[in-house]
Amino acid sequence: MIFDKDKILIVDGLTVEYIKTGEKVVDDLSFSLKEHHCLAIVGESGSGKSMTVKCINQMLPSNFKNKGEIFYKGLNLMQLSKSDMKKIRGSEIFMIFQDAMSAFDPSLSIEKSCLQILEENTDKSEKDLLLILQESLKKVNLKNPDLTIKKYPHQLSGGMLQRIIIALAFALKPSLIIADEPTTALDTITQFEIIEEFIKLKENLNTSIVFISHDLGVVKKIADDVILLKNGVLVEQGAANQMLSAPKSEYGKYLIGNRHKMGEKYFELMGGC
Ligand SMILES: Nc1ncnc2c1ncn2[C@@H]1O[C@H](COP(=O)(O)OP(=O)(O)OP(=O)(O)O)[C@@H](O)[C@H]1O
Ligand SMILES: [Mg+2]
Repeated sequence: MIFDKDKILIVDGLTVEYIKTGEKVVDDLSFSLKEHHCLAIVGESGSGKSMTVKCINQMLPSNFKNKGEIFYKGLNLMQLSKSDMKKIRGSEIFMIFQDAMSAFDPSLSIEKSCLQILEENTDKSEKDLLLILQESLKKVNLKNPDLTIKKYPHQLSGGMLQRIIIALAFALKPSLIIADEPTTALDTITQFEIIEEFIKLKENLNTSIVFISHDLGVVKKIADDVILLKNGVLVEQGAANQMLSAPKSEYGKYLIGNRHKMGEKYFELMGGC
């Protein structure tokens, strides 16, 4: 067993194969996440970022098979039974997706949905959970939280829903948060505000985070370390500061170079402001 007390997550030789064609969408991928750090997974669309985190959360689609090992706090997640994994999901490993709406039951008010999620992951009474929820909502800059949580998911914006999900993370205090493009569906200002909430979450809870994003600006703001994937293969890994300013691989140079060019073009289009 691979165990390193400073590393909350170790992925070792992960391969994910599309059963029908034998195509490897993740190929012999190894990386680790240090305790209380944020690791960003970057790479173009289809490079295997979501597949990788689906494996960590043991939610791989049935038409795929995987091999390799994934250790969370020294526990081999690949060998856990479905019921043991269910106990870890939510309370220990908390997933946040791009589509915040999908986290809520559309037929329930936000308050009922949140209480249901909290009840599934703790053994506290509903009264205590309501207090915990109210306290957590205060931490995420949600306007009129008491009124907002009486509403239904379709009545709230993507940014509001994402704030509520972050409040749930504050309530559940997971050791590991996996966020798969949590800001991609939001406008630039809301993206910025939500990243601030993630940073608060990381600092206040001492949580470790795996953060997937296309946006290298967002990655620069939140990540300590970065891994870069291309066609399911690890191309480069390193400290975020170093990789985002002076990537070593040709592909890294190409991606960062393109981002700088796009930034300059945007600046030019905006009349230099
Ligand atoms: N349910 C599925 N059935 C068949 N192929 C799939 C399925 N989901 C993903 N794939 C394929 O697996 C590969 C990796 O997909 P993945 O979703 O991990 O990419 P990604 O890096 O997360 O991309 P994006 O940035 O667009 O979210 C892609 O080639 C994709 O087409
Ligand atoms: Mg994805």
